Amino acid sequence: MRLSHLVYPVVQPLLKRLRRSPWLIRYVFGVRLPRGVAVQYDPTTVLLARTMNEMVAESLAKRTNDRPLRLLEMGIGQGALVSLSIAAQTPPDQVKIDGVDCSPSRVNSSQEVARFNKHDVQFWLSDLFSEVTSESTYDFIYFNPPYVPTQTGRELQLTRRLEVDGDQMWDGGDDGASVLRDFLDQSRRFLAPGGCVVFGVQEIFLPDALVREAMEPYGFQNVQKRKPRWLPSTVYIGYGANE
Ligand SMILES: C[S@@+](CC[C@H](N)C(=O)[O-])C[C@H]1O[C@@H](n2cnc3c(N)ncnc32)[C@H](O)[C@@H]1O
Repeated sequence: MRLSHLVYPVVQPLLKRLRRSPWLIRYVFGVRLPRGVAVQYDPTTVLLARTMNEMVAESLAKRTNDRPLRLLEMGIGQGALVSLSIAAQTPPDQVKIDGVDCSPSRVNSSQEVARFNKHDVQFWLSDLFSEVTSESTYDFIYFNPPYVPTQTGRELQLTRRLEVDGDQMWDGGDDGASVLRDFLDQSRRFLAPGGCVVFGVQEIFLPDALVREAMEPYGFQNVQKRKPRWLPSTVYIGYGANE
């Protein structure tokens, strides 16, 4: 039996309440939830938010001009917690934050959470980059992608367990890396010079070797990996080839 099938059914019910707690979401991400809006996060959301906040702060400290950093979150989910945590911690004139998702209900929900927190961000519907204008380029493009292999997710009944309205929340295709590959491929032309992609996965579903293999064809440079001991997730950073 695979590790994911042993671990997930035990851990998921224990964490279910924590992952939806408005109090914890406010504490961890600095985001307040309007009454009646259900938002959940996973360990990768936490690590991606932490990594992005660190990277944005480092970039702002090092920059030599007044231009705001341009950020794009792929797959904002129900509450755009990564983007709104950056908005909560960064002066509004120093970042321009965009975000997209392929699910209309998740875009609506994220827009409502952003309005409630009075953050000036733009969220819209897009299947990966299909609705991102070709003139747009970003310093950071970040994604907590669906990375569970289809068969594994079906066996673990993830859509039912997570109580979400579709498989897109977790379904990474046959080997778990299909959406990630498409994202990496398409993201390259939306990266500003010196810009990078930042994405997170859980190795229990998507092992390091497979992530590296997925990144390899697209020529990302200076690939870095961040893996804290206290979380089951890993974040990868890759810089565009035009750096
Ligand atoms: C694992 S969830 C992450 C949600 C949220 N960002 C978080 O970290 O909690 C993956 C998100 O990616 C979105 N997604 C999946 N495929 C997508 C695609 N082709 N284009 C845009 N968004 C996509 C899903 O709808 C879902 O909201």
